[in-house]
Amino acid sequence: MKTPTSLANTLVIFGASGDLTSRKLVPALYELFRKKRLPAGTRIVGFSRTPIAHEAWRECLAESAARFLAGAFDAALWSEFASQVFYQAGDLGKVEDFVSLNNFLTELESGTPASRIYYLATAPQFFQPAIAHLGAAGMADQSSGTRRLVIEKPFGTDLASAQQLNLAVHRVFNEGQVYRIDHYLGKETVQNLMVLRFANSIFEPIWNRNYIDHVQITVAEEVSVGRRGGYYNSVGVLRDMFQNHLLQLLTLTAMEWPSAYQADVIRDEKVKVLRAIRLISREDVARDTVRGQYRKYRDESDVPPDSNTATFGAIQFHVDNWRWQGVPFLLRSGKAMSCQTTQIVIQFRQPPHQLFQGEPRPLTESNRLVIQVQPAEGVQMHFFTKVPDAGMKLRQTDLSFQYREKFAGPMPEAYQRLLLDVMQGDASLFTRADEVELAWRVIDPIQAAWDEAHASPLSFYEVGDWGPPSSTEWMARQGREWFDSCPLLK
Ligand code: BG6
Repeated sequence: MKTPTSLANTLVIFGASGDLTSRKLVPALYELFRKKRLPAGTRIVGFSRTPIAHEAWRECLAESAARFLAGAFDAALWSEFASQVFYQAGDLGKVEDFVSLNNFLTELESGTPASRIYYLATAPQFFQPAIAHLGAAGMADQSSGTRRLVIEKPFGTDLASAQQLNLAVHRVFNEGQVYRIDHYLGKETVQNLMVLRFANSIFEPIWNRNYIDHVQITVAEEVSVGRRGGYYNSVGVLRDMFQNHLLQLLTLTAMEWPSAYQADVIRDEKVKVLRAIRLISREDVARDTVRGQYRKYRDESDVPPDSNTATFGAIQFHVDNWRWQGVPFLLRSGKAMSCQTTQIVIQFRQPPHQLFQGEPRPLTESNRLVIQVQPAEGVQMHFFTKVPDAGMKLRQTDLSFQYREKFAGPMPEAYQRLLLDVMQGDASLFTRADEVELAWRVIDPIQAAWDEAHASPLSFYEVGDWGPPSSTEWMARQGREWFDSCPLLK
């Protein structure tokens, strides 16, 4: 349902004192305001335990926004923005605090109907009590304007807990009111993947098993776990990155054409891909996955010295449908790797007949389309050309498109787009309940096998490597090679 333009928005952020609020949400809201895209009259209300005055919270946020936005921060404009920012202290565990919050919101809205957005930027153990209390305080009722719920990941830690969370959500909100955020979907290049595939006719004829040998999806991070050791150790790379971000990239790469650019039509297509992913059995985990840990991980604070948590993973998935039969999707992600790069590599097959002499070329020297998601966002196509004045010598060359060269201005933070979409009631870039559950269905058997010491060995890698050597060997056994390249397009 689209928000009628006449209704102003009230955005309530639960977990107002957290990192996400100060680093991402409030800077994104301010940026929308600066660009004159924040709908007029939008009020922002922070909710957290510590009692502080509105003004004190505004000052805290001003300081962090100035730090995170640097040059884009303007003190005069901030004051205008901050006049619509409020704070209400309360405990997520107490229904009476939700009743007080509701009274405060009604007063703020001067009794006129408003669209409300409840953003759960809290630790996950508070999701269910907060949702139940929103229901008990009558705050999900839509008789005086839409009520939307935004949930940040993690959506559970496995299929059973995700189902339980979805049940708790659906006891209070219907699915149409729920916006589950995967911030990767707010990235411009991730959205561009749909444009590249579906607004151009040249890719579709070759986007299938007849022309593509395999697909690589790499999300490499240069950072280590840093201060998040305690949290990270309980989740590891599979739950932290694969269940959400990497599987989202896979579904967008593999999905069929949606018949319309509409939230449910798009999500139906993504769900079909998730359903078609072949589940990896315990027996096949050692063959189809690589599990790694960077060498200094066990020295990180809050990480047990004998931790077996994976900080790197590589997985070979198969999508069992007509388009992708026999085309492996090779996904990998890790912390403390060579550089920060997120890229999707479409590796095409070799021509069926080698016309030009020389040894048969390795697969890595055939055509490749590299979608550089971040940083240095862009697309690069690799193909052969003739070296001039050198007989029939060939060399691989490229055609590049780089956002920075073609469009002015910096790339917007994912949260700007996502927050605006919630306000406008567009759920296209949000994950639906069935999508989340199907993703866990794919991840759970792998995680279960990884949790057993013997099912798949843990390999180690040096900080700054492309994962453990066993990952390179694993690819070599398949006759393939990782495209180990730091952002191509700099
Ligand atoms: C988060 C993970 O979801 O994504 C983090 O919890 C990870 O561990 C982050 O660092 C990566 O996001 P981005 O946008 O920096 O690629």
